[in-house]
Amino acid sequence: MTPSTAFGIGAALSAGTLTGAEIGLPGSGARKNARTRSGEGGAGTYLEVRDLTVTFDGFKAVDGVDLTLIQGDLRFLIGPNGAGKTTVVDAITGLVPATGTVDKSGQPVLGLKTHKIAKMGIGRTFQTASVFEDLTVEQNLDIAAGARRGPLTLLRRRHGREDKVTEALETIGLEHLAGTKAGVLAHGQKQWLEIGMLLVQDSDVMLLDEPVAGMGAEERQATGELLQRIAADRTVVVVEHDMDFMRAFATTVTVLAAGKVLAEGTVAEIQADPKVQQVYLGTAAETEETPR
Ligand SMILES: Nc1ncnc2c1ncn2[C@@H]1O[C@H](COP(=O)(O)OP(=O)(O)OP(=O)(O)O)[C@@H](O)[C@H]1O
Ligand SMILES: [Mg+2]
Repeated sequence: MTPSTAFGIGAALSAGTLTGAEIGLPGSGARKNARTRSGEGGAGTYLEVRDLTVTFDGFKAVDGVDLTLIQGDLRFLIGPNGAGKTTVVDAITGLVPATGTVDKSGQPVLGLKTHKIAKMGIGRTFQTASVFEDLTVEQNLDIAAGARRGPLTLLRRRHGREDKVTEALETIGLEHLAGTKAGVLAHGQKQWLEIGMLLVQDSDVMLLDEPVAGMGAEERQATGELLQRIAADRTVVVVEHDMDFMRAFATTVTVLAAGKVLAEGTVAEIQADPKVQQVYLGTAAETEETPR
């Protein structure tokens, strides 16, 4: 699927012109297919967010957000500080109460407990990496893999846990550090380990909150390439401030401002959008991050 096709379908879904079933996405009216991925017999997963609203003491941090996220589309969610980006991720993963609807491949998500949402294959990382520092890289992955174990998983799984851990170690490029305590990893490596923990949990929707914050240029490049690899057969959303990183790796971009979707499109469309330029120019003094 080409990026433009991916966005075309997303835009059509957003606009309410197509349903998942009409374009043959799995799980649309076929519940048993909801967790399938390409390579496992399914055409793709997707996440549909409608009218998502989060209110803190009367203040709408997220205000009627619609998002359609599909497999293979590396979507960036950008916006000034306080725009509501993290709160959107928190709401989708059940960390804050929200109204509206969130469906994963036709299955309702909103209102479920966080562990149920994780079990549905929706995983997230935090702005600050949360790995077990005293355990090795491999032990961290083992634990994450264990969290996903259940009778159905055991039945469905073709490979044992170790294969899955080995595969994740390869994907995140940390094989050589498998026996190293996570606490001594470089900042970037901790973020990769967190992504690895989502991989072994079979998360096919990944919401990553500022994964390259604090990384150097080389780590950013490696992370971008990692995200492109994992997004090929998953639904990946990257919350980010870094415009250069976005330009280099985004397939599509959603701009959030004051809790609402301000604009959505390709990197070129977003950069050319006067509304977006205005929001970023307005906050440039604070963030020094202006689309060029
Ligand atoms: N638990 C909370 N209680 C009250 N207000 C909150 C809470 N969490 C977030 N907010 C407010 O909601 C708004 C959105 O915050 P959020 O953290 O989602 O923004 P963000 O886009 O992720 O910002 P940043 O780029 O700085 O991470 C902010 O005004 C914030 O102060
Ligand atoms: Mg945030």
